[in-house]
Amino acid sequence: MKNHIEIKNIIKPFQKKIEISGDKSISIRSVLLASQAIGKSKIYNLLESEDVVNSLKTIKKLGIKYKKFNKYYEIYGFGLNGYKINKNLTINAGNSGTLARLILGLLINSKKQVKLIGDESLSKRDFSRVTNPLKEFGANINTHKNSLPVKIIGSEFLRPINYIEKLGSAQCKSSVMLAAIKTPGKTIIKAKKSRNHTELFFKHLKIPIKIIENKNNDYIEVSGPANFNGFEYNVPGDISSSSFFLVLTILSNKSKIIIKNVNVNNSRVGVIKILNKMNAKIKLKNKRNYNGELIADISVESVKNLKCIDCPDKFNSSAIDEFLVIFLVAAKAKGISIFRNLSELNKKESPRLNIATEFLKKIGIKVLRKKDNLKIYGNPGLDLRGNYTIKNFRKDHRVFMMSCIAALTFGGNWKIYDIDSIRTSFPSFLKKIKYLGAKIN
Ligand code: S3P
Repeated sequence: MKNHIEIKNIIKPFQKKIEISGDKSISIRSVLLASQAIGKSKIYNLLESEDVVNSLKTIKKLGIKYKKFNKYYEIYGFGLNGYKINKNLTINAGNSGTLARLILGLLINSKKQVKLIGDESLSKRDFSRVTNPLKEFGANINTHKNSLPVKIIGSEFLRPINYIEKLGSAQCKSSVMLAAIKTPGKTIIKAKKSRNHTELFFKHLKIPIKIIENKNNDYIEVSGPANFNGFEYNVPGDISSSSFFLVLTILSNKSKIIIKNVNVNNSRVGVIKILNKMNAKIKLKNKRNYNGELIADISVESVKNLKCIDCPDKFNSSAIDEFLVIFLVAAKAKGISIFRNLSELNKKESPRLNIATEFLKKIGIKVLRKKDNLKIYGNPGLDLRGNYTIKNFRKDHRVFMMSCIAALTFGGNWKIYDIDSIRTSFPSFLKKIKYLGAKIN
C-alpha cells in the first residue's frame, strides 16, 4: 500500500472556521481515571486516535468494561482496587509515552505481574524516569536497560514518597500522582513546571490535593487512598493539533482561521506566547471553563512581517510538543532566532531536535546547533523550488504534520512518508487540511 503523500502546490488563501478533535493528554487521563472511579463515567469528545484506543484496550485488559455511544463513551470502574489482572498479562501501549508512564502509576498495587510493551519508537524511550520514583512506593519493577519491556508487580504495603521532578515532565509527575491516590498517607511532589491536567482533573474529581505554585516549581501534596465516583467529562480541543493550523495560516497568504473550543490552559499555551512575540496576532475569544480546564476560540491571520525570537526557556515546557512548527515560523522570520535547553525535545517519539536541525538544513535554512541550543537564520523570502523527500523519522506523527505544513507554505515538490503516523494523535489531519483547500495526492 502507498504510504506517502505528494504535495506540489502551496495552499491558496482560505478563510475558515474549524473544530479540532479532543486533546490527547486529557483524553488519556480521562480514560485512565474513569477506569479507577467507582461506577459509571461518561466522556464526551474523546479523541479517537491510536494512543487513546490503546488506552481503552489497556483498561479492557485490566477487566474494565466500556461502551461507545454516538457522542460519548461510558466506562464502568470498580474503584482503586478494581483491576482484574490475569496471569502473564501483557499490555501494549503502542506509541504512547503518556499511556505507558501513567498506567505504571496505576499498577502500583497490582497483585500479579504485568508486562508493559510498546512499538519501536516507544521501546527506545527512557522509563527509569518513572520506574525510579515508583519503586520507592514499594512496587517491584524491572526494566530492560531502563526501557521497555517493563515488568511491574505492585505492593500491598505502599508507602508515600517525597519526589522531586526535575525534567519538567508531566508524564513523570502524573505517574507519581496516580500512584499517590492508591497509597495511604501524603505523597509530596516538587515538580518543575509542566502541563497540569492531572492536577485540574484531581480537583474536578475532589481527590484531596494541595498545590502551591512558585515561579519555577509546583509543590503538590496528594493524600491517599482517595476513592472517587464516576464522572461526566467533556474533553476540550487539542492545542497541539491546533498549532499546525495556526502556523499554516500564519505562513500562508491572505488567510484567516478560527478554531473553536480549544484548550488554552496556561501550561499549554507556550506556542501562542512564542508566536505572538514573533508578530502573529493570535487572539483568544469566548474564554470559558470546561470541567476546570480553560477553553477558548482561537483566531489568527496570515503574517507578512514575522520577526525572530530569542526564546526564553521558561516557555519550553508549555510549548514542548509545538517546537517543530515554531521552527518553521523562525525559518521564515526576519533575523536569527535562538532556542535554548531543548534536551527534552530529543526524548520524544523521535529525536525531534536532531530531526528539525536536519530538516531545516535540507530546505536551505542556515542553522547552528550547539548541544541543546538551536540558532535559526530566518529567510523571509524563502521560496522553495526543489524536490524534498521526508522519511525515516521513526513514524513521528508531529514530524509528518510539520512536513506537510512546510510543503503547503514554502513551495517545492514534496514526498512525505509514513502517513499512518497521524493515527496516533490526529487521524483527521489530512481531511482538515484538504477542507482548507490543500491539494494533496
Ligand atoms: C504529555 C507530556 C509531555 C508531552 C507529551 C504528553 C502528557 O511529555 O510531550 O506529548 O500528556 O503528560 P513529557 O512529560 O515527557 O514532557
